[in-house]
Amino acid sequence: GKIKCIIIDPPYNTGNDSFIYPDSFKESKEDYQKRIGEKDEEGYLLKEGLFRKNSKESGHYHSNWLSMMYPRLFLSKNLLSDEGLIFIHIDDNEVHNLRLLMNEIFGEENFISQFIWKSRQNKDNRNITGASIDHEYVICYGKRIKGSERKTEQYKNPDNDRRGPWVSGNMVGLLPQEQRPNCHYDLVDPESGINYGKPKLGWRYDQNTMSRLIEEKRILWPAESSGRPRRKVFLNELSDRYTGFSSIIGEKLFTRNGTAEIDELFGFKAFEFPKPSDLIKELISQSVEDGDIVLDFFCGSGTTAHAVLKWNVEHPEEQVKYLLVQLPEKINENSESFKKGFKTIADLCKERIVLVIESIKTKSKSTPKFFENTNIDLGFKVFKLSPSNFKIWRGSEVTDENLELNLESFTDPVKPESLTENMLYELILKSGYSLTDKIERNDSFYSVNDGELIVALNEMSQAVLSKIISSRPKKVITLDKLFAGNDQLKTNTVLQMLDAEIDFKTI
Ligand SMILES: C[S@@+](CC[C@H](N)C(=O)[O-])C[C@H]1O[C@@H](n2cnc3c(N)ncnc32)[C@H](O)[C@@H]1O
Repeated sequence: GKIKCIIIDPPYNTGNDSFIYPDSFKESKEDYQKRIGEKDEEGYLLKEGLFRKNSKESGHYHSNWLSMMYPRLFLSKNLLSDEGLIFIHIDDNEVHNLRLLMNEIFGEENFISQFIWKSRQNKDNRNITGASIDHEYVICYGKRIKGSERKTEQYKNPDNDRRGPWVSGNMVGLLPQEQRPNCHYDLVDPESGINYGKPKLGWRYDQNTMSRLIEEKRILWPAESSGRPRRKVFLNELSDRYTGFSSIIGEKLFTRNGTAEIDELFGFKAFEFPKPSDLIKELISQSVEDGDIVLDFFCGSGTTAHAVLKWNVEHPEEQVKYLLVQLPEKINENSESFKKGFKTIADLCKERIVLVIESIKTKSKSTPKFFENTNIDLGFKVFKLSPSNFKIWRGSEVTDENLELNLESFTDPVKPESLTENMLYELILKSGYSLTDKIERNDSFYSVNDGELIVALNEMSQAVLSKIISSRPKKVITLDKLFAGNDQLKTNTVLQMLDAEIDFKTI
């Protein structure tokens, strides 16, 4: 896969979540009906009400949730690169089951940590068990995370050592005399002759190593014999820029910070319990390098995009891309968001990205210096899954009686409602290009990846043809109907493409 980092925040299965969604994988209709606990005569069609709540009373309470998660996690493994990491937000309701599921899909050996996030600032006194559950988890699988960037400010060079900035390090040993006799000896400064004796646990190095350190002038000798000699630790001799990353994350970031953030952007409480973007930024910091992609396929209000945009502003050298997926889940009609005109969660998410981008643009005007080194990408594209723009020949539905009608309808295989831009993206995808490849619009055709592929959907003439051929593409796709019965033009086109060794396709 190409994705470096997946961050998801699925429904926690609290007993009040609506997440039962009629996935149509290769499950039999009967199994599916059993799984969602309801017979639906229409099968897999997306209808109002099919997005259903999973309540604790259901005999399939945990199994429903796991059945929803399994295929999504299974697919996500294929999308991750070899060095990729996945972070999943979860709480006590399903953490134990999720870990088992992840062990099965990602392998127990790839478990990195069950991070703990103190999400609640004030105690919850409503719980009948008496326990105030103030934390959630983020479980992480992959090979390794980066670790915390070492703080280097404390490295100084007061004595102008040519080896550069240093800090002083403890040299007291770790084991008693019986276990490490060679580290128990009196330490004497050969220049001053001061004897510093030996600590209870001896010294960290044996006498040979210590002599080398003394010779290399790496020891700091106190003026008094009661002081403890220490060693100089040089910044440029450290083997790793990183130290361990604590398994306790999101210090001083609470759920209410997430809510405040979205409130500030929209001017009202547009979404319940979004994660704080700075918490997501912490996870991003553990996984990405310049050019990497972060994916969130339970994106909700789009906190992950917010976090990536903030990250990009703060890290000019490490520009990251985001890829979000959100089902068209309807917004509750009594909510303020609905009253403000948002119909689905996906609508809200799009608006949030627009608002974040606007705020970055405003900030860049007032503090141009801050943005000087940033070539941050402030554009994004939105796609909706939809049926093909082209008619599909269904052989099994063709009978002797309707054959003629069918053939006739295929003289133009383009569905009447198809829009040019939608056809363009469908053809690009089907030709193996990606949705983010560079597309330029010309007067008469589209050019993908600097002319590698040319898609002509509006007109075709000898002039257009000559222009296309002179730009030397690898492949050209056009619509048969553009030749409007002009067989001579079509034959010419085929021959000229053949001559120029261009792969030519008409639809
Ligand atoms: C907890 S929210 C994510 C919130 C997000 N992290 C934020 O900060 O705004 C979970 C999301 O999962 C989506 N979801 C629920 N059931 C789903 C399903 N069966 N498949 C895919 N997404 C689903 C919901 O629409 C919702 O947006």
